[in-house]
Amino acid sequence: MAQPEYIVIRALEDGVNVIGLTRGNDTKFHHTEKLDKGEVMIAQFTEHTSAMKIRGKAEIQTAHGLTESEAKK
Ligand code: TRP
Repeated sequence: MAQPEYIVIRALEDGVNVIGLTRGNDTKFHHTEKLDKGEVMIAQFTEHTSAMKIRGKAEIQTAHGLTESEAKK
């Protein structure tokens, strides 16, 4: 990965979790970052991180476009 893309996550409620999942044979949570409303996290995919899971209501910007996760009911 020469230029890993940046992912921008903007929390739209308190307690949004950004969960990093490991790269490789097994895919496990390795890091959870908690964001409160209005907080922004800018993250990359790395040799350790192959996927991210966003829990809670947030706006997520990637090179593929803008998406929104929803609050848990
Ligand atoms: N130590 C992690 C890594 O280098 C840090 C990290 C990068 C991370 N991107 C992330 C943690 C996304 C959570 C979500 O891969």
